[in-house]
Amino acid sequence: MQVGIDKIGFFTPNKYVDMVDLAHARNQDPNKFLIGIGQNEMSVADQTQDAVSMGINATMRYINRIDKDKVGLLVFGTESSVDQSKSASLFVKTALKLKPEVRTFEVKEACFGLTAALMIARDFVRVHPHQTAIVIGSDIARYGVGTPGEVTQGAGSISMLIKADPSIVALNDGHSAYSEDINDFWRPNFSRVAMVEGKYSTQVYLDFFTKTFNAYKKQKNLKTSDFDAITYHMPFTKMALKANRIAVEGQDEETTKKLENSFEAAKQLSRRVGNVYTASLYLSLLSLLENANLAAGSLVGLFSYGSGAMGEFYSGNLVTDYENEIDQAKDMALLDRRKKLTIPEYEDVFNAALEDPEDGQELDSDDEKGTWYFAGTKDHVRQYKEK
Ligand code: CAA
Repeated sequence: MQVGIDKIGFFTPNKYVDMVDLAHARNQDPNKFLIGIGQNEMSVADQTQDAVSMGINATMRYINRIDKDKVGLLVFGTESSVDQSKSASLFVKTALKLKPEVRTFEVKEACFGLTAALMIARDFVRVHPHQTAIVIGSDIARYGVGTPGEVTQGAGSISMLIKADPSIVALNDGHSAYSEDINDFWRPNFSRVAMVEGKYSTQVYLDFFTKTFNAYKKQKNLKTSDFDAITYHMPFTKMALKANRIAVEGQDEETTKKLENSFEAAKQLSRRVGNVYTASLYLSLLSLLENANLAAGSLVGLFSYGSGAMGEFYSGNLVTDYENEIDQAKDMALLDRRKKLTIPEYEDVFNAALEDPEDGQELDSDDEKGTWYFAGTKDHVRQYKEK
């Protein structure tokens, strides 16, 4: 029985910053951000969008096309959690009107969270082939105004339906995992912004990629040339480009070209959205499916990385007619609806969103009709509403 990704939904907030504007404001050469970091734009979440509301909005992209009664599992991966105890997934379950019998919880291991959720879902569906699972990764990457990490911020969510006989990607058995207790990126409970050793995190990421990619090829008796594409966790596109360079090192011209072309396709959405932590690898998978024109059956490698640190490599094959499940025009419209902020506007929106509103204060959203948003707290209970 094949199990895998049957639907993918994407959401990003309705505001963004242009990297050229940011470079000018920070007295940097724009090419450092555009080429050196590899980002064009970054989405900005105001106070009305958090991990929960973005996760609801991403799942709403496909919820009317699935049988809700079959959903037996809902797992939410995030490092932008809104509560120390209650799972983000419970708010989502209510908004989606899922049945009470669903098993639901939140997982955390930095950007690895959505992969952890996906692997739990894959195994769940194998044991319960008549049920399906929803997995969500939703994050706001915040390093702070004027920090070196500022250019690698972003916000958004990816939601996926995992089921038997999937319509998009059939996941292959096996994986290679590697973990070490290190401090490359973390966010203490008192802080709304991440702490990061940026250059060290890149070094560890590349090291974990090399280890897990080689171990996976060995385990499955595969060669690099067997892959039609490799997608990466993509905090900023330059970081993943460095991993792709390692992948093609020493390969023949045809393999190098194939993997370089697929990398170009896979980075398009990240260039405009920025870092979405747990959702980042899957945003690049979506970008690959929309831009690469890959044939059914193509073998796609996926490298997941979560700081702290945890790496995993696995693969899947594209299913016949997978294109029918992808709506590039709608994803482009979602990006194009965003309002471009001036840098002072972005700084105000960013800093305001570092605090929750006063308890009892009601927030309104300026997004499109039908968008879910965080409406403030009542007696410190978070309220989510649909515009
Ligand atoms: N034209 C073209 N390129 C230029 C340039 C110019 N004018 N000026 C500089 N560059 C290049 C540099 O050569 C450099 O390229 P290489 O990386 O190939 O050497 C690149 O631009 C960046 O320049 P610097 O290294 O000087 O930049 P910096 O010191 O300002 O820091 C950064 C960059 C380390 C990435 C910093 O932005 C940062 O710390 N970002 C956050 C790090 C991060 O996201 N880590 C990921 C952790 S994994 C994750 O997602 C976390 C998780 O699990 C939650």
